Amino acid sequence: MQISLNDQVALVTGGDSGIGRAICIAYAAAGAKVVVNYNSSQDKADEVVRQIKEAGGQALAVQCNVSSEDDVERLFAQTDQAFGGLDILVANAGMQKDARIADMSLDEWKAVLDVNLTGQFLCARAAVKRFRRQGNRGRMRANGVILCMSSVHETIPWAGHVNYAASKGGIGMFMRSLAQEVAQERIRVNGIAPGAIRTPINEDATEGEAGKKLLELIPYGRIGEVDDVASLALFMASDLADYMTGATVYVDGGMALYPGFEDNG
Ligand code: BGC
Repeated sequence: MQISLNDQVALVTGGDSGIGRAICIAYAAAGAKVVVNYNSSQDKADEVVRQIKEAGGQALAVQCNVSSEDDVERLFAQTDQAFGGLDILVANAGMQKDARIADMSLDEWKAVLDVNLTGQFLCARAAVKRFRRQGNRGRMRANGVILCMSSVHETIPWAGHVNYAASKGGIGMFMRSLAQEVAQERIRVNGIAPGAIRTPINEDATEGEAGKKLLELIPYGRIGEVDDVASLALFMASDLADYMTGATVYVDGGMALYPGFEDNG
């Protein structure tokens, strides 16, 4: 069985690096036309586009800060112009600004909530409007698919990261409430909760001594790779997952199994 996104249009926010980048490449390899959104690193987004085109696929890099309403409207308009519609939104863009609470500035709190949570709201809202307008484009069984990038910290508390954990906890309820709201329109909304995946966002935590310590939290015994998440994102966007909506799937090597309880408690 082969997973195909043939002729579908996918928009991946934060597609220039890490998990988003891997999803762009996987989707393009499955036949989708991909909009690679980036905020500040045009060179990296261009490189993803180049790689996709070199492999015979279609892609376009579009700048947009997902926490800006005007930017998001422009991003979706450019997607329409370039590819004539939209089938899949992967609301992936996210960031960390870590600090213990007494040292966390209001700006650090807001910046993370604005990008990680409000950004998903703005993009999902724009996608739902388009999906409604388009109806079924004859390319997939659903009338549109939204994937919300969450984290194991949707459920695992994370001291020193209250802004990030609050944003991901929020994504869990945002995703499920939206899934309930649009299911009758045959728009599928699901979440992906990665654990420790080797990406630029957590370079310090996954390398060297810190990386060894991190392994104690991962029963499966290895740090995740971006393709572990991209494979799941491919399945969840495809017709193979057509009956799936309102679910968060953990891809974390067992991190959310609370391994500290293995021989304790
Ligand atoms: C964070 C990473 C972290 C992982 C596991 C992710 O959501 O972005 O920095 O390593 O969760 O704690």
